[in-house]
Amino acid sequence: MCTSEAVPFAKTGGLADMAAALSLVLAKLGHDVRVVMPRYYSIDRSHLTRIEGAMGVPMGGMEEWCAVYRAELPGSPEKNPVQVYFIDHEIYFGRDGVYGVPQEPDFLDNPRRFSFFSRSVFQLCRKIEWIPDILHAHDWPAAMVPVFLKYLESGAFPKTSSVLTIHNLGYQGIYARDNFGYTGLPAWCFYEAGFEDGAMMNILKAGLCCAGKLNTVSPGYAKETMTREQGFRLDGVLRSRAEDYSGILNGIDAKIWNPRRDKSIPKPYGENDMSGKAAAKEALQEEFGLDIDPDVPVIGMITRMTSQKGIGELFGPAYGSAYSICRDMALQLVILGTGESWCEHEVRSLSSRLPNFRGRIGYSEELSHLIEAGSDFFLMPSRYEPCGLNQMYSLNYGTPPIVRNTGGLADTVENYDQESGEGTGFIFNDLTPQAIYNTAGWAVWAYYNKREQIEAMRLRGMKKKFSWEGPAKKYEELYRAALAGVAGV
Ligand code: ADP
Ligand code: GLC
Repeated sequence: MCTSEAVPFAKTGGLADMAAALSLVLAKLGHDVRVVMPRYYSIDRSHLTRIEGAMGVPMGGMEEWCAVYRAELPGSPEKNPVQVYFIDHEIYFGRDGVYGVPQEPDFLDNPRRFSFFSRSVFQLCRKIEWIPDILHAHDWPAAMVPVFLKYLESGAFPKTSSVLTIHNLGYQGIYARDNFGYTGLPAWCFYEAGFEDGAMMNILKAGLCCAGKLNTVSPGYAKETMTREQGFRLDGVLRSRAEDYSGILNGIDAKIWNPRRDKSIPKPYGENDMSGKAAAKEALQEEFGLDIDPDVPVIGMITRMTSQKGIGELFGPAYGSAYSICRDMALQLVILGTGESWCEHEVRSLSSRLPNFRGRIGYSEELSHLIEAGSDFFLMPSRYEPCGLNQMYSLNYGTPPIVRNTGGLADTVENYDQESGEGTGFIFNDLTPQAIYNTAGWAVWAYYNKREQIEAMRLRGMKKKFSWEGPAKKYEELYRAALAGVAGV
């Protein structure tokens, strides 16, 4: 697994959860899985084991040196632990931030940092004398792995194939063409391997052209990304590879996200005794300084504050719907998140202006569990959502999600039918402030007027299984198909 993030070592989003969880479940199935990721400054070396000797990595005609550390992935099966290797390069990774810091959200030298990282994967295999069947790369930071395999390393790794997983097509690693030199690839590869993007270099595009197999994290998003509207200009590339491209829905880690044994909430709960959910609601209202009232519906939200997540429509200037929702409806709204500074400011401002709105700017695992458990509904008005983990968590916590009809959200939530009471959440189509307002209103109406249906809906969501066992089997099939490609079958 070649990844820029994996829990518990480094996380900016769901990629970190997915890379770790998939590695663990494959190890449980008996595979020899190893993870390689950068050793960021925030990862404390004193908990890692140093592998002896420096490692040289070819970089644009030269060689650069790094150290390698190792640790076991927590949660590994005892008999078959997953090894995590950390590429330790002071200049590239010995700084705050994974991809950037607030003052510089995308580090200027990211193409160089992740060229180095992707190339180091092969040197690592040599160093530990371990040749994998599959190099599984995630997102643009590792997308050069399949490219290097195809054009520079196929001689040394003749039986290895590659798989590239798209977690978010919105981030492609598009940089000035000058950076191509760092790859060490011959000049003709700029076109041949698919880096060319007008005058720019597009790292994800090259990966998509070169990988043995491609996939993304839900079937719905796989279809959407092949359309012009949602293909982020790579729909043509994806359509041309349609035979090799599929969608596999992520699972969730039921050890961590399970109300029946959650230690971050006041009292665990399950279908037979929901009193713990009421206790969580009270604790949530207290934590956020809201009126403690069991009868008022609470809508929760946990999000990266970026346009992908619909924050413009919720909090944007002049037309944000969060303000109107809180002004007009008998509800409470809580949000936890970090991201674009205008949004953080607006959330702080609304928290001081409205009695029933509270935002917390920051990152907190602990609070995120309390919000999942203590809310009555969970809001995710995403512009696009490759998979989305929070709607699955909230279903399992008996907190019906209010979601936009897109990607993994559409694949995991069924719309409420107020005649029959069927469904697991509330779905809207258009990403407009009005649609969010109306759908939040619909959920609140059902809470006050169709309470029995809402309680039944909670239980229905709690019974949904999003385990990793099914997806793991699909990844096994994908790996086999990729290997068949190298064998020339
Ligand atoms: P994405 O990866 O696009 O951000 P996902 O829904 O796949 O979306 O995953 C986001 C993950 O990050 C979830 O586990 C979510 O709970 C977590 N998360 C996001 N922001 C915060 C935050 N401020 N505090 C705690 N957890 C957060
Ligand atoms: C990305 C996507 C998210 C997905 C996650 C894990 O961050 O935005 O929808 O759940 O990757 O695959």
